[in-house]
Amino acid sequence: MARFWRPGSEKPDSSSSYPSAARDDDYSEGVPFAMPSSYQSGYMSIEKQRQSLPIYKQQNSLLYLVENTSTTIVIGETGSGKTTQIPQYLVKAGWADGNQLIACTQPRRIAVQTVAARVAEEMHVNLGLEVGYSIRFEEISTPGVTKIKYLTDGVLIREMMEDPLLTKYSVIMVDEAHERSVSTDMLLGLLKKIQRRRPELRLIIASATIQATSIAAFFDNSKQRQLVDKDKSLPSRKPAILSVEGRSHTVLIHYVEEPVDDYLRAAVSTTLLIHKMEPSGDILVFLTGQDDVDAALQLISDEAENGSEGIFVLPLYAGLPRSDQELVFSPAPRGKRKIIVSTNIAETSVTLEGIVYVVDTGFSKQRFYNPIADVEALVVAPISRASAQQRAGRAGRVRPGKCFRLYTEDFFMHEMQAEAVPEVRRSSLVSTILQLKALGIDNIMRFDWLASPPAETMVRALELLYAIGVLDSDAKLTSPLGLQIAELPLSCNHAGRLKLLIFSTMKEPMVAKMLLASAALGCSNEVLTISASLSVQSIWVSGKGRLKEFDEARERFAAAEGDLITYLNVYEAFLASKKSAQWCHQNCINFQAMKQVLDIRAQLSRLLQRLGIPLKSSGKEIQAIQKAVASGFFVNASQLEVSAEGDLYKTVRGGLKISIHPSSVLFRATPKWVVFKSVMLTDRHYMREVTAIDPAWLTEIAPHFFQCRK
Ligand code: CDP
Ligand code: MG
Repeated sequence: MARFWRPGSEKPDSSSSYPSAARDDDYSEGVPFAMPSSYQSGYMSIEKQRQSLPIYKQQNSLLYLVENTSTTIVIGETGSGKTTQIPQYLVKAGWADGNQLIACTQPRRIAVQTVAARVAEEMHVNLGLEVGYSIRFEEISTPGVTKIKYLTDGVLIREMMEDPLLTKYSVIMVDEAHERSVSTDMLLGLLKKIQRRRPELRLIIASATIQATSIAAFFDNSKQRQLVDKDKSLPSRKPAILSVEGRSHTVLIHYVEEPVDDYLRAAVSTTLLIHKMEPSGDILVFLTGQDDVDAALQLISDEAENGSEGIFVLPLYAGLPRSDQELVFSPAPRGKRKIIVSTNIAETSVTLEGIVYVVDTGFSKQRFYNPIADVEALVVAPISRASAQQRAGRAGRVRPGKCFRLYTEDFFMHEMQAEAVPEVRRSSLVSTILQLKALGIDNIMRFDWLASPPAETMVRALELLYAIGVLDSDAKLTSPLGLQIAELPLSCNHAGRLKLLIFSTMKEPMVAKMLLASAALGCSNEVLTISASLSVQSIWVSGKGRLKEFDEARERFAAAEGDLITYLNVYEAFLASKKSAQWCHQNCINFQAMKQVLDIRAQLSRLLQRLGIPLKSSGKEIQAIQKAVASGFFVNASQLEVSAEGDLYKTVRGGLKISIHPSSVLFRATPKWVVFKSVMLTDRHYMREVTAIDPAWLTEIAPHFFQCRK
C-alpha cells in the first residue's frame, strides 16, 4: 500500500481562493463538516448556478473586448464557465443574429458532446436545434436554426475544405488552447490566415493556464499595414487578454514516501483508503487509458464486494458511450460516494462537480514520434508539473480538498517537466500536412505555427505522402487525386474533392488509401467494414480483468490473415446475431463501438457511392482484401528475422526492430511478412493491428517505394 506524507498545502491554481471555512487540519482528522450550499447542483436553479460562475461578472468586459478586438484571449481556470457561458453571452449580444453562428472548438469529442448537451439544457432547448455539435462522423445541428455549434478542432479544419474562410461563423472560440494538440495548433495557424482575409471575424482563444503572451504575440496583426485599416468599423488587430478571476479552494497535497511499483494497484488501494478514512466528497482518479480504467474499475468493484459499500464507481474516457457520460455528470445516488476513474480527460476538458479528493498516478498516455526510425507510438509517460497542478486543482472546486500523488515530491520537483511539449513537436505530421496541402497551403515549410515542428518530421511526412502517391516529386497533390487547388479559396473538381474528403475523414491517409485501393481489387464491401472498424476506439472490451474470457472470445473470430480480417469476422457475426447487445457482452465485444462501426460504415459507403465506386464483395477471396490492406499500409511492411532474442520483425522503413503485440491474433503465428497499423512502446516496440502479406505484392503495389530499397 502506498504511504503518504504531507509536506504542506499547495494552492493548485494561481488565482485567489476563498478563505476556507475550516482549517485544512480538520479534514485530515476526518472530521465531518457542513457542505456549502453550492455543492450539490440540484440545490440551485440552473440560472442561479450560471450567475455564480466566475465568468458571469466579466460578461460585459468580455463582450466589449469581442466587439472591439479581433482576438480575445480568455484565461480562466477549469470550471470558471468559459466553455458553457461565453457562447451563450455571444448569442445574447446578437452575434448569432442573421445567418452566422458561433463555433466553439474542443480538442476532445467527449467534451464536445457533454458541453453541448449541458448548454442546450441551460438554454432550455433540444440538443441539435439552437445548440448543436459536430464530431467526426456525427453532426447534430440544424442549418438556419443552430446558433452555437460545439465541434472538435479537427472537424472545423475539415469544414474549411468546403468553406475555406469559414464564413458561416461570426465568432470562433478555440477552447482548451493550453492543451496544444496538433489540431489546435494547426487551427490557430489557419485562423490567423483567415483573419487577414476576414478582418471582421472575431476569435476567442480560451485557455486554463497562463501562456497568454505567446498566443497574443502570435495573433498580433497590429503592425501589418493593410488597406482595410482605413475602415474604422473594423476591430483592433491587437489581441486583448481577459483573466477570469478564479475561486478555487485550498488543496492539500500528499506525496508517497517511496516510489510505487504498480501505479494501478496503488491508485485502487489509495482510493479505497480515502473512502474508508475521509469524510464525504467524491473521488477522481487519474489513470492513463481505457484499459487501465477498466482494470481499476474491476479491482475496485471486486474490493467493494468485500465490504467497501457506499460507493458508486464510474469510468470516464474518450470512447465512453453517451448513456454513461450522463451518469458521470449527475450526482451519485443518495448516501453514496461517487468515484470517477478517468483518463487525462478530466484534467481540464470536462468539469465534474463534487470532487473533493484526487488520486493522481502521475502518468498519461502520450504520443511520441521518432523521425529517425519514423515511428509514432503511444507511450505511458510522466505528466508535466503543470498537468499535476491542474489535476490537483480538480479537488478544490467545491470546498477545500486533497490530492494524493502516487509519486514522490522529489520526482515532482526534479523529474517532471515544467510544461508538456506541444504535440506538433512529438507527433508524426502525415495527416496534418496532407490536410494543409488539401487546403491549398502549398509552402508547408513556411506555415505559421505557434511552435514550429522539427524539420525532420516535416520531411518524413512529405516522403511518406510521396510514397503513398498523394504528393508528386514537387510535393504537389498528385493529379490522380484530380486536384487543382489554389491558396485558400478551394477549387478542385468534384471527384478530387470527394477523394480529399475521404482522406480527411479517415484521419489516417493510409486507411483512405486502402479504401480507395479496394475498388480495383473488388473488395470494397469488406474494406469498408475494416475501415469503419479502424475508426472506432476499439471493438473489444478491454482484456484486463477478464483476460481468459477475452482470449477465448478473440480466438473464436481470429483469422489466420490477421487482425483486420478478424474485424470482418466479428462484423459478420455481429450482423448474424441481429446486432445483439447480449451477444456482444458474451463475446467481449464493445456493443457501442459496433453500433458506431455500423454508422461510420454507412457514411463511408455513401462517400464511395458519390465517388462512383461500386460496392463489391470479394466473397471468400481473402487475398484481395489483404492486398488492399497492403496497398494502404505498405510503408509499414516488416519482415520476420529469427534471432537469439526471439521472433523479431524489422520495418522496411527505418529498420526498426519490433514485435507483434500480444493482443494481436498473429502473436503466436509469426508470418514472414506483415504490415501493421500502429505502434505501441512499452518495454519495447510493439505493432498492433497486424495483417500478413505476401512480399511479392509490395513491388507491384508501390514500385517507386520498394524498388529503390532492394
Ligand atoms: O470551461 P470552463 O472549464 O471554464 O467551465 P465550464 O465547462 O463552462 O463549466 C461551468 C459550469 O458548468 C461548472 O459549474 C460545471 O459544473 C457546469 N457544467 C455541468 O454541470 N455539466 C457539464 N456537462 C459541463 C459543465
Ligand atoms: Mg472548458
